[in-house]
Amino acid sequence: MSNPTIESILNEKRLFQPPAELSAQAEIKSFAEYEALYAKAKADPAAFWAELAERELHWFQKWDTTLDWQPPFAKWFVGGKLNISYNCLDRHLTTWRKNKAALIWEGEPGDSRTLTYAQLHREVCQMANVLKNLGVHKGDRVGIYMPMIPEAAIAMLACARIGAAHSVVFGGFSAEALRDRLVDAEAKLVITADGGFRKDKVVALKEQVDNALANNAAPSVKNVLVVQRTKEPIHMEAGRDRWWHELQAEASADCPAEPMDSEDTLFILYTSGSTGKPKGVVHTTGGYNLYTHMTAKWTFDLKDTDVYWCTADVGWITGHSYIVYGPLSNGATTVMYEGVPRPSNPGCFWDVIEKYGVTIFYTAPTAIRTFIKMGEQHPNARNLSSLRILGTVGEPINPEAWMWYHQVIGKERCPIVDTWWQTETGGFMIAPLASATPTKPGSATRPFPGILADVVDLDGNPAPDNEGGYLVITHPWPSMLRTVYGDADRFRKTYWEHIPPKDGKYLYFAGDGARRDEDGYFWIMGRVDDVISVSGHRLGTMEIESALVSHPAVAEAAVVGCPDELKGEDVFAFVTLEGTYTASDALKDELKKHVVGEIGAIARPGEIRFADALPKTRSGKIMRRLLRTLASGAEISGDTSTLEDRTVLDALREER
Ligand code: WTA
Repeated sequence: MSNPTIESILNEKRLFQPPAELSAQAEIKSFAEYEALYAKAKADPAAFWAELAERELHWFQKWDTTLDWQPPFAKWFVGGKLNISYNCLDRHLTTWRKNKAALIWEGEPGDSRTLTYAQLHREVCQMANVLKNLGVHKGDRVGIYMPMIPEAAIAMLACARIGAAHSVVFGGFSAEALRDRLVDAEAKLVITADGGFRKDKVVALKEQVDNALANNAAPSVKNVLVVQRTKEPIHMEAGRDRWWHELQAEASADCPAEPMDSEDTLFILYTSGSTGKPKGVVHTTGGYNLYTHMTAKWTFDLKDTDVYWCTADVGWITGHSYIVYGPLSNGATTVMYEGVPRPSNPGCFWDVIEKYGVTIFYTAPTAIRTFIKMGEQHPNARNLSSLRILGTVGEPINPEAWMWYHQVIGKERCPIVDTWWQTETGGFMIAPLASATPTKPGSATRPFPGILADVVDLDGNPAPDNEGGYLVITHPWPSMLRTVYGDADRFRKTYWEHIPPKDGKYLYFAGDGARRDEDGYFWIMGRVDDVISVSGHRLGTMEIESALVSHPAVAEAAVVGCPDELKGEDVFAFVTLEGTYTASDALKDELKKHVVGEIGAIARPGEIRFADALPKTRSGKIMRRLLRTLASGAEISGDTSTLEDRTVLDALREER
């Protein structure tokens, strides 16, 4: 099985209607209602969002101006004051939801914990006071490097409560990658755990933090707060490191939420691009709160009776928006699971669904492809009848995987919401509403109400139906990234200058190719830049090249993505060696390990090929198109006349 090809999705004509019973009880009951809502929002996006902001969120003080758009800089709900932790917690405590399960957590070894809204509120208030006592103030940054345990969500909400911006770093990143992010964000404190459980092994997170901070390499970090998870022995640096449980036990549970300006930074989350180091994507409070709230509510038809489970890690935007903020703002029950499917427990996801009666299940195509390979017997041996809606995110889903998900997991009863969005967009941009939008396997369908999306050429001219082009967003939306942390210039260049403003209108360049069909449905074709997606994890090829080149044996490296049955794409590296080194399998292994050390296991090259030289144009640019073709095992076709030295290509081909 492979990623969707143009041929396979052009031939995809199946259409699946939302189940009538589901639509009947939903807020948005039909496609006609969606279209009416869409038209209303399009006519006056600011008025549309203002009405929802008033209705759906609690504000300490109402805003003066809904949208201040000084392209490419947007401000939403200017002058408004709110706190997302108040909207996620406090406001539910005065309702029957006080004793409702807010967070259900299942650990990999089988331990579990449920926190009601009242209990979660208490923990968050205590942690907020712990942070204050450690000298964290409004406007500071806090690094979070955690396993998938409730304390990760508590830490995020505690930061939000006192107005410190969090910067969560995925626990699979290496000490080097962690250090880069802590330094860039100038984090004052790091919250971590002694370790976490992953695939039946202990991941030594605290040790990575120690390495990241060694030799005062991240001087802004004054303290490290450590959750006791694995109880493995760890080093505690006197004067710097403190135990979470000790401070939490002493802290007061009284901590009113700080009234935040709508445009105060809520968090920074690093993501890969085609150039340079990962960028710190900045999200602010009001617009992000509203947008994740509305998209969680309408896309998933979220109800108080739902048990909602998103399998992402909180280290990614999906975990931020759709494990923590979106569901909790709605007062939903959100499930958090520490484990991942592994040979010792191939049915673990289905066990979690059965155990907690999960009704909405949201995962990634790479996971679905893994389940297909593991076999139907695992889901078939569990009772999955509680499920009513399924979701997918992270990469294009091939129609075959979509159909398997629909039939084997959803038993043909559950709509599938294929959600296209990005770290930068904060929330779903193109996705069906489960209750209203007919779905087509492989299509993310239509934009969310209030989102104006288009497919254009490089001059910004709309592409005709069914012709590919670049996916753009033509009007600001509440949860759009505000800037790249510390680098407004990079923000402008990356997102707003690839395609110049058209008729005075700024176009947000998403970096994805797409096609729109005759029904206005969008089909995402994948990245058009040097970003690859390995198991749905976004990686910049240049980051991996820099990691390789930092090894003394490597003279030059070029990294491309190559198709992979399970991961979608895998990392394929072409490497030339410094004179004194010779190619060997041992060196390949060493280089792979080196990349893991520099970035993390997610970036480990699946294949490294040594070459005497890399194919370059006469002006010295590496010809990636050729390398991509070679990596995919296909024959080179098309124009190679700009290639400087044809023998290079012949040599690379022969190595195959
Ligand atoms: C890809 C993840 C096709 C896309 C939320 C995007 C998708 C990048 C889909 C963002 C989807 C995400 N169909 N492609 N449903 N969802 N993508 O920032 O290439 O980790 O630009 O955010 O993932 O990845 P990120």
